[in-house]
Amino acid sequence: MQPLQSTATATLGGDIVAPGDKSISHRALLLSALTVGQTEIDGLLTAEDTLATAAAISALGAPASYDEAGRWHVTGVGVGGLSAPEGVLDLGNSGTGARLLLGVLVGHPLSAVLTGDDSLRSRPMARVTEPLSRMGARFVCADGGRLPITVTGTADPLALDYRLPVPSAQVKSALLLAGLSAAGQTTIIESKPTRDHSERMLRLFGANVSSETEADGGKRITLEGQPELVSPGSLTVPGDPSSAAFPLVAALLVPGSRVTVGGVCINALRTGLYESLSEMGATLEFALTGEACGDSVADLHASASALRSVTVPAERAPRMIDEYPILAVAAACASGTSRFEGLDELRVKESDRLAAITDGLAANGVTVEGDADSLTIMGAGGPPPGGGTVVTHGDHRIAMAFLVLGLVTRRPVIVDDGSTIATSFPGFAELMGGLGACIARP
Ligand code: S3P
Repeated sequence: MQPLQSTATATLGGDIVAPGDKSISHRALLLSALTVGQTEIDGLLTAEDTLATAAAISALGAPASYDEAGRWHVTGVGVGGLSAPEGVLDLGNSGTGARLLLGVLVGHPLSAVLTGDDSLRSRPMARVTEPLSRMGARFVCADGGRLPITVTGTADPLALDYRLPVPSAQVKSALLLAGLSAAGQTTIIESKPTRDHSERMLRLFGANVSSETEADGGKRITLEGQPELVSPGSLTVPGDPSSAAFPLVAALLVPGSRVTVGGVCINALRTGLYESLSEMGATLEFALTGEACGDSVADLHASASALRSVTVPAERAPRMIDEYPILAVAAACASGTSRFEGLDELRVKESDRLAAITDGLAANGVTVEGDADSLTIMGAGGPPPGGGTVVTHGDHRIAMAFLVLGLVTRRPVIVDDGSTIATSFPGFAELMGGLGACIARP
């Protein structure tokens, strides 16, 4: 446990670059492993989660490493070409790494054991193992269908036609990756569209993936199985909008601040937070700079703003699923009562985020009510009292969100463990320090 404390800051200012997008980084590693030959990747997130995925594909026979300049090199073996690993594949804290890898392994006639840390071993895996079993793979799971899991794949998986019971890009992606090895078309229907990086990147690697909008607003995604995947040779991973959210919200809250985060992926299925902040009256500007990994990229500018409350409807949840902790912090400082609905998936993230947000805000003098799947936050209309210690339950986004809160509260905020920030945003405290924030050991 490494506690961290943040203290009220006079003003924040400067230009930074967001770390590489975590979702796209996992997909870049896995797809590079599934093409024959070398792929060079710039901008890839080098953090504990993605290092775990890189170690897993290396153990499966597709070596992935990075050089002094931070450029990654992956030597792929083609779809179906991975080989049995010698030891257990430990995906650490990474739900994306574990679930997507289970999908990849379905089309490989080998057995592998996947595990993770305490948090990952408590997260639901049946959402992927159940549909992947229908494709012909076998899974032996710990109690409750959780990790550790032994997966045994097959050389001839069956194509699948499946409607996602929960909106989850991880489940969708696991099924698409498994569908690569199946003869015929794999079709996934999602009633609430989720991040589509897998679809975009599969196309970049030469797969035939189509996506149609259904009458009810959902999506039907169809993948032609057994494509000849071809590496684009080199890729640049754009910055992570979920990580950029922390310095940008900090700039909105600390009076007199102006911060730019450059090179951020602005995939429309990731920008629900920014829509919500705009509805709250935030001064946020987007300046498009180009494209990377099939997504638009922009520099994002945030200036201190007087925020008002917001109601975030359930339909928006998949487009801002990782951003509720930091939006809750913004709502705690806004004027009026905010309400976030449709949060049941927050219960099964790196922690029970609905409970962690409620407890963390209450510990810092914010009036908050959480029920089964919603949050109501009474904004202080300025800096809340603070002075509390936040139990992060090993959750990086809870830690970063509450460290941002402490930059404006009347008394410092302590998070019980900042070490998990390294899973997605190594150097967070130093980068924030460069903007003028006071984040240090208590
Ligand atoms: C992710 C999908 C989301 C998100 C996670 C990353 C991905 O999870 O919360 O941080 O890369 O596909 P779910 O698919 O479980 O909603």
